[in-house]
Amino acid sequence: MTHYSIAAIPADGIGPEVISAGIEVLRALEKHNPQLKLTINTFDWGSDYYKANGVMMPEDGLAQLKKFDAIFFGAVGAPDVPDHITLWGLRLPICQGFDQYANVRPTKILPGITPPLRNCGPGDLDWVIVRENSEGEYSGNGGRAHKGLPEEVGTEVAIFTRVGVTRIMRYAFKLAQSRPRKFLTVVTKSNAQRHGMVMWDEIAAEVALEFPDVKWDKMLVDAMTHRMTLHPQTLDTIVATNLHADILSDLAGALAGSLGVAPTANIDPERRFPSMFEPIHGSAFDITGKGIANPIATFWTAAQMLEHLGEKEAADTLMQGIEHACSQGVLTPDVGGKATTADVTRAVVAFIEAHSPVTETV
Ligand SMILES: NC(=O)c1ccc[n+]([C@@H]2O[C@H](COP(=O)([O-])OP(=O)(O)OC[C@H]3O[C@@H](n4cnc5c(N)ncnc54)[C@H](O)[C@@H]3O)[C@@H](O)[C@H]2O)c1
Repeated sequence: MTHYSIAAIPADGIGPEVISAGIEVLRALEKHNPQLKLTINTFDWGSDYYKANGVMMPEDGLAQLKKFDAIFFGAVGAPDVPDHITLWGLRLPICQGFDQYANVRPTKILPGITPPLRNCGPGDLDWVIVRENSEGEYSGNGGRAHKGLPEEVGTEVAIFTRVGVTRIMRYAFKLAQSRPRKFLTVVTKSNAQRHGMVMWDEIAAEVALEFPDVKWDKMLVDAMTHRMTLHPQTLDTIVATNLHADILSDLAGALAGSLGVAPTANIDPERRFPSMFEPIHGSAFDITGKGIANPIATFWTAAQMLEHLGEKEAADTLMQGIEHACSQGVLTPDVGGKATTADVTRAVVAFIEAHSPVTETV
């Protein structure tokens, strides 16, 4: 039996709704797979914790999390707490503190979901976006001077290091190499940003030499939105900076039907620290508490987590369960259906029960 310890941080808004649905499907996989044992500890960190304690997580938060094999994260953000406090108080310190430098965001059109693009069905859009997750525009470098005065200055300095760019390029080329099309698109903005982005391009070309079997091309980020929308079939694996990939992956989620189906994995490829798995979406104030949050992104990231832990079979069963539920029309309102979070969860659990190695005996 393989035993894994998971730290669940549901946090804010619809985070607790989708994470509890995610735990339900993980428990179903565990129940029907005698080789899999999951210990899941839930942490109450987030905006309510901040309102009570003045911090989003305790000072020794990272030390507590370090003991776990993986982190299963919901979303942060509350209407009455500034976003930079919630993000920089919980999610980013985990990503940066654990050097989860590869943010992996698969997108495809799931069967049964009607995407917004005409003439684009399952198979036409099947991408993985690799986002640099440790530096770039979100390095936190900058400051404010003369606060509140007319001459106030705010700087936000993007940091690109040779080490940081080289390792994310290697990760992206390797991932592209592992996919059937062996094709990588490097997103850049080196026409306007002539320092860090030019170095980004140069390093991409250097790393490409290590992967002669991977075809690659380069795209300016603005033109990339055009290509993603009009020629989705021409893309496969994509690598972009922290900010560019953040924006492009929301577009990717929307083109696949909804942000509610878009997962993400914050990976430490060297496995020095636990990696963190989460839906791309935020805390979605507009639907919190209505029971209609789409749990598919969370289920998909749970599948990414199982795969990262080495449980490929369980991950595949979960992905098949997701595709089955969608193809049967068990869809939440964001993707055109009437189902609740609980309906979708039940459909996926039923699939797991019917398709796992061990089915229940009475
Ligand atoms: N990783 C994160 O924790 C993260 C990511 C993005 C935004 N946020 C935070 O979340 C808060 C709200 O941000 P926002 O409104 O810009 O983005 P959001 O992702 O929360 O919501 C955008 C839209 O998508 C819909 N949506 C999102 N997830 C859905 C789901 N699972 N099912 C159905 N519909 C879904 C919402 O209803 C909303 O209309 C802010 O505080 C923001 O800072 C956090």
